[in-house]
Amino acid sequence: MFFTSDNAAPAHPAIMDAMLSANTGYTSGYGAEDAMTSVQQSIRDLFEAPNAAVFLVSTGTAANALALATITKPWETIFCHRNAHIEEDECGAPEFYANGAKLTLVDGPDAMMTPENLQSAIEYTGRLGVHNVQRGSLSITNVTEVGTVYSLEQIRALTKIADTGGVKTHLDGARFANAMVALDCTPAELTWKSGIDCVSFGGTKNGCLGVEAVIFFDPDLAWEFELRRKRGGHLLSKHRMLSAQMQGYLADDLWIDLAKQANTMGQKLATGLANTRNAEFMHPSHANMIFASLPRAIHDKLAAQGSKYYFWPADPASTGDANEMLSARLVCNWSTTDKLIDQFLDNF
Ligand SMILES: Cc1ncc(COP(=O)(O)O)c(C=O)c1O
Repeated sequence: MFFTSDNAAPAHPAIMDAMLSANTGYTSGYGAEDAMTSVQQSIRDLFEAPNAAVFLVSTGTAANALALATITKPWETIFCHRNAHIEEDECGAPEFYANGAKLTLVDGPDAMMTPENLQSAIEYTGRLGVHNVQRGSLSITNVTEVGTVYSLEQIRALTKIADTGGVKTHLDGARFANAMVALDCTPAELTWKSGIDCVSFGGTKNGCLGVEAVIFFDPDLAWEFELRRKRGGHLLSKHRMLSAQMQGYLADDLWIDLAKQANTMGQKLATGLANTRNAEFMHPSHANMIFASLPRAIHDKLAAQGSKYYFWPADPASTGDANEMLSARLVCNWSTTDKLIDQFLDNF
């Protein structure tokens, strides 16, 4: 019963097969291999974006930081939610890669910025001319860090404000497939048709071994990204291992099937917990992640059975009372089964 993270799951066998098949013979490196041309074409087709520039890197942090650096100058700021991964979990990589660009934190419930808060943050920025950082970019995470999903209307409301303020837009899609499945929309609707300029398109959390695509709908940004990726040490020489993973991921809609499984299990767990009446939800659960408080006695039972997940926040102060409620983050992934969820819920 391993619910710590979706990247704690193994890679899907089809991804490993794709990598093994790519491990034969000689081919060019650094993204010049034929497989990368086919990945680029597949992603352009999927996103209905024939001119999009497509790149691969091996971590989500690199994807976010390099993408944001490409659309944000050092004296500009990146607007993002206070709980954004780029703020809380990337050790300052976006600021580092963007040569000191600032992050401006925008509030909103359930890790979702509200249009009003974004509007006032953008208006406030740049009010003193040369003395302020300037407006740069907006980064939206979908699925958010607390398991909620911005609707297309919510994304459009934010990107419209950004556009009016001259701010470029980035989508942190470490869980892009989970968001798309939850919204039952197309990749284009989730991105450029809703005003997004560039995307970190995740693979690692959804069955890959370690690959994320960075997609720019404006191909003029491609060369700067390429230079930043190389200079930042993220251009893999044996790039075929990235392109093979992405090929395997996209083939026969595997990426969508895996996200459907993760989300279905997430929703089954959320419904099951709601039915026990022993759980209090910290946030609505729209995809594959659940944030809920459970009585200590149940945490203890689950732990005794070998169940693994994170307390949220970690290491909460405890009174030792069996009835005290302690919060947990529970993440389902492509390999989570009905049986595992049933076993987990049997403890309530
Ligand atoms: C929302 C979000 N963005 C990006 C990442 C990418 O992180 P990593 O650099 O660990 O691949 C993660 C991983 O936890 C994430 O949850």
